[in-house]
Amino acid sequence: MHVLGVESSCDETAVAVYEGEKGLLAHAVYSQVDMHRFYGGVVPELASRDHIQKIIPLLNKTLAEAHLTLDGIDGVAYTKGPGLMGALLVGTLFAHGIAWSRNLPIVGIHHLEGHLLAPLLSMPSLAFPFLALLVSGGHTQLIAVFELGRYQVLGESLDDAAGEAFDKTARLLGLGYPGGPALAKLAQAGNPSAFNFPRPMINRKNLDFSFSGFKTAVAQQIAKKPLERQEAADVASSVQQAIVETLTIKSQRALEKTGFKQFVVTGGVSANTLLRQSLQKMASKLEVAVYFPQLEFCTDNAAMIALAGYHRLKAGQREGFSVEVKPRWELEDINFD
Ligand code: KG4
Ligand code: ZN
Repeated sequence: MHVLGVESSCDETAVAVYEGEKGLLAHAVYSQVDMHRFYGGVVPELASRDHIQKIIPLLNKTLAEAHLTLDGIDGVAYTKGPGLMGALLVGTLFAHGIAWSRNLPIVGIHHLEGHLLAPLLSMPSLAFPFLALLVSGGHTQLIAVFELGRYQVLGESLDDAAGEAFDKTARLLGLGYPGGPALAKLAQAGNPSAFNFPRPMINRKNLDFSFSGFKTAVAQQIAKKPLERQEAADVASSVQQAIVETLTIKSQRALEKTGFKQFVVTGGVSANTLLRQSLQKMASKLEVAVYFPQLEFCTDNAAMIALAGYHRLKAGQREGFSVEVKPRWELEDINFD
């Protein structure tokens, strides 16, 4: 079964074709980051309009790469939520249009289920269960993945995501958007213990995070006086150190609590070298295997949506022709009964 996947929940437009036996046949992603950079963050209305412009060329490119036409597609999967309402509507209507006109089965996918299953794209041998740390610009979550369609959120950020803390600090230091990679680069020249920024909520037994107060503490420090280049590097390094330590402590607690022996780290922030090293070291001590999916599958893409769709369609799930998006949607709402 060839499944067409469509993703448009935020600022990436993406299309993919996944086949049960052969795996991923083709995928294409267009990132709007250059357009939003000017505004220092994603502008929802611009995102929606740009999805409209890019989605058909991306479909054509993906089908050509897969050596297919729409005649070769047997089912459609699209991101139904969570995400930006207008952005979600573009992919949803596009996917429903294709399914309706060709009488194909269609299923709406939870964006986070896509992220959780993404490691299977490059590591088909990865077996359930595993713990996942999802760290992106929008999410910081620890999730128990028991099997396909059975997920439990063990802890999550009560306010801002870890990626936002990276981006906000980078903006205050004048490093541009998205700031994570630039901040990590500047941090290399800095002293990680120069500033003692908070490690939010590490003294609480639960697995939740909070980065809002942390962002304020960093902003107050930066506002004290104009920073020399070395001081800016020290702030960057200390911020990175505090975020990495916080994520590592909570991940360790989640691994100890669940006893899982496999740990998947995904989302844009998982590109951070210090975070990878720190999680790897912690997991080795617990004799836990760590998997970092290929970066192209860690960040937003449609390959993960097509894969999740393939499994759900195979399990007999289908949607009717009425169209609905879910800008807010709890992950546990999609568990198989
Ligand atoms: O998953 P993603 O590409 O997009 C969504 O948020 O959906 O994640 C983007 C986030 C941004 O906050 C970006 O600054 C951060 O990932 N990021 C990094 C690094 N590369 C990307 N943060 C820290 N270090 C990095 N090397
Ligand atoms: Zn995402």
